[in-house]
Amino acid sequence: MSLAGKRILLIISGGIAAYKSLDLIRRLRERGAEVRPVMTAGAQQFVTPLAVGALSSGHVYTDLFSREDEQDVGHIRLARDCDLIVVAPATADLMAKMANGLADDLASTVLLATDRPVLVAPAMNPKMWSHAATRRNVETLRRDGLAFIGPNAGEMAEGGEAGLGRMAEPLEIVAAVEDLLDGGGKPLAGRRAIVTSGPTHEPIDPVRYIANRSSGRQGHAIAAALAKLGAEVTLVSGPVTLPDPRGVKVIHVERAEEMLEAVLGALPADIAVMVAAVADWRVATENTEKIKKKPGEGPPPLMLAENPDILKTIGHHAQRPKVVVGFAAETQDVEDNGRVKLQKKGADVIVANDVSPETGIMGGTRNSVKLITAAGVEQWPDLSKDEVAGRLADWVAARLI
Ligand SMILES: Cc1cc2nc3c(=O)[nH]c(=O)nc-3n(C[C@H](O)[C@H](O)[C@H](O)COP(=O)(O)O)c2cc1C
Repeated sequence: MSLAGKRILLIISGGIAAYKSLDLIRRLRERGAEVRPVMTAGAQQFVTPLAVGALSSGHVYTDLFSREDEQDVGHIRLARDCDLIVVAPATADLMAKMANGLADDLASTVLLATDRPVLVAPAMNPKMWSHAATRRNVETLRRDGLAFIGPNAGEMAEGGEAGLGRMAEPLEIVAAVEDLLDGGGKPLAGRRAIVTSGPTHEPIDPVRYIANRSSGRQGHAIAAALAKLGAEVTLVSGPVTLPDPRGVKVIHVERAEEMLEAVLGALPADIAVMVAAVADWRVATENTEKIKKKPGEGPPPLMLAENPDILKTIGHHAQRPKVVVGFAAETQDVEDNGRVKLQKKGADVIVANDVSPETGIMGGTRNSVKLITAAGVEQWPDLSKDEVAGRLADWVAARLI
């Protein structure tokens, strides 16, 4: 009874794999879970609410504007009154709605109104899965903190076509549900982590600033990955265009000095992962008015002052977290510079990457990193920033334990 007492809201959308959801309901209930089904209009073309209701032994929710269910604003209750939402099968259409925040039926409205974890089991034709629009939507949903299981590769139900797009098998989905709900899958439960992310903006005057090309993708992904392992995460973010990751406390700052203050304010912590591309220098003079162009005078001199070194401060702090991770963005001698940084900053590991423009790493979605520790150098393969984040969170958890 691994899921005893767990309440699962199962959203079934209109794919041919909906027949497998009937088995999924049985498997979840066998393990003690209570399953509340929501079906889209499309889903009802493939399996009947009668069959779904018989297997789940309860009411099947299908209609947003139901007079009966909405007397107490039932869609909000459905969205919150569960431990986990599972979307299986998740059609390309429903994922597109979720990625864009649409809410034009009960399933999509519940998904927009929820603050519960969501597990998505996509199922569709391989061409639909590999379509640029679906790729974008999946990436958005991953960044929003939703978990995915599958799709698997194999023969399509319609026959004559094979590839990536088959819904994960019911028992695989059950295993993913158990992982998400099981405290054992949360090795960082009870641990506190501080992550910095993004660039800093150092003002020249009230309208101009010095910045860099950091997007915050890697730092935000690491904050989400640590939270997924159960850590209580404070993310100190410079100015980025990314949404705040789910389940993470976010402090927004602009300047390096503000970032340091927020990081110190978040101590004590067990883990510090300093990913932000903090400007080394700020403008020395504070210009409270916009610097004017004056005819006959050349450009104004810009005197720079050194910014605080946040990683070094944390690495040598009296309340130094047990695991301190630094990032080194280099354009030359990546390994040597990383080793020097490891020593100087008091970090346990430096994650070094080559951010030369031709690598596309700074501002991009992929990363190729070397882990530099006192024990040696470990080169990781080219991975998405989410994958780097997941592996790094596992590394941190192993180091801490
Ligand atoms: C026979 C048939 C099978 C379909 N199978 C899938 C599928 O496996 N995955 C998918 O994303 N869409 C599939 N579709 C298309 C969806 O049913 C369609 O996009 C629908 O609008 C989805 O609605 P929903 O997302 O609200 O459930 C299929 C359509 C038909 C007619």
